[in-house]
Amino acid sequence: MLIVIENVLDRDEVGHFRKRLAAANWIDGAQTAGSRSVAVKQNLQLDRGDSDAAELGNLILGKLGRHPLFVSASLAEKIWPPVFNLYQDGGHYGAHSDAALMRLPEHNLTIRSDLSATLFLSDPDEYDGGELLIEEQFGAQAVKLAAGDMVLYPSSSLHQVAPVTRGQRICAITWMQSAVSDTSARTLLFDLDQSIQSLSAGRAKDDPDIDRLIHVYHNLLRRWAQV
Ligand code: NI
Repeated sequence: MLIVIENVLDRDEVGHFRKRLAAANWIDGAQTAGSRSVAVKQNLQLDRGDSDAAELGNLILGKLGRHPLFVSASLAEKIWPPVFNLYQDGGHYGAHSDAALMRLPEHNLTIRSDLSATLFLSDPDEYDGGELLIEEQFGAQAVKLAAGDMVLYPSSSLHQVAPVTRGQRICAITWMQSAVSDTSARTLLFDLDQSIQSLSAGRAKDDPDIDRLIHVYHNLLRRWAQV
């Protein structure tokens, strides 16, 4: 399932990111691709050790940790430091799947990628092409969001970035290990949580029916979570 999380960054924050990224030191993204994906990857990235990338990435992580929809949808236990990339002049990333296990020795971090995320930092009218194409159970979906919005999708899906034929497409991407690795179980929990949130609005804080649903939510989470 694809989940769109709007306004992870507001307009002012997007402006700040764009100003910083315009002056950043972009390098060939093929340097960080695996041996198979190097053949299909054509973009620019900020180096992992880049100070702009680290600072802006931490701002994103702070935002995500406080975003109720992100927390509910991802149940993230570990998050990869965001990677910034830029596509232009026909740049693209052909169909690939993301590595299942990702290791970052300098952060003493190993994650199993359950969810992938793309945070758009360019608005759709700034570039042509550049859709994120995600193969799902019911066919491929093309995703191209407003700057500041993020899409979450299962890391197990094949996906690609269509060639950017005009302008620049700048994004931040990251990966998460979820407390609930199974996508269908995580999706049920998300649906239940969202229903509880909307049913709770306008009801008493101690409404017994809501309490019972919350009880069910936590017992399902207890059954499925691996931490
Ligand atoms: Ni990917």
